[in-house]
Amino acid sequence: VNVILLGPQGSGKGTQAAELETRLGLRHIASGDLLREARELDTPLGRLVKKYYDAGELVPDDVVIELIVQEINKHLNGQGVVLDGFPRNVTQAQALDKALASNGSQIDKVVELVAPLEVVKKRLTGRLICRTCGAVYNLETKPPKVPGKCDLDGGELYQRPDDTPEAIEKRLQVWAKENEGLVNYYQSRGILYKVDANKPVEQVTQDIMTILKRDL
Ligand code: AP5
Ligand code: ZN
Repeated sequence: VNVILLGPQGSGKGTQAAELETRLGLRHIASGDLLREARELDTPLGRLVKKYYDAGELVPDDVVIELIVQEINKHLNGQGVVLDGFPRNVTQAQALDKALASNGSQIDKVVELVAPLEVVKKRLTGRLICRTCGAVYNLETKPPKVPGKCDLDGGELYQRPDDTPEAIEKRLQVWAKENEGLVNYYQSRGILYKVDANKPVEQVTQDIMTILKRDL
């Protein structure tokens, strides 16, 4: 199955996509991860991405679409993909459908992670990420065993450059503006499912898996 996870920043898309990758063998494709890699490049592309990314603004559609579609095409032969952070608006959703259709593929289910804004803001403030493997921690809800170090590989934990209070506000504003159109787009196709994401990680994973296992 090919799945999209929707939801505001901090609702747990990355966290849940990693679980689905481990448990169902779906390939986790995160637009944010691909853009964070691009952001490090000292090239015109890298500088363009950095400018938008650091301000919490969406990177222009044409840049993102090319980057992500390329990555998705590499992984369509496996168990399926779980998309995290893409599409972000209806333009991207249409481009995605077109790209998948040209490979005889499609999106099967879209899961929207629903959580109150106060909850997600608090989570983002405490988020830490492993520089080596990308594992996601949280000072309050998922602290590493040794402060500042990844449980899996001892890698250094860092705070994302866009997890500042200003960029968090901006990102949530952008999300609020685009989300409804995106939800309507998939709801009208009958493939949108909502999950309460204000629960422990394991419970949310179970709820998503139940939805994915139901008949298409
Ligand atoms: P991106 O990397 O996609 O980030 P985001 O949308 O800001 O989403 P987050 O990663 O903040 O949230 P998440 O839901 O994945 O939360 P997580 O699981 O980590 O995008 C970054 C930027 O890239 C954008 O601003 C834009 O500039 C650009 N970009 C990306 N995609 C783009 C696109 N398609 N088009 C244009 N531009 C694009 O969880 C958060 C925290 O909560 C963690 O600490 C975690 O441990 C904790 N947590 C998770 N679940 C739970 C739970 N159930 N209970 C308690 N704590 C939990
Ligand atoms: Zn690690």
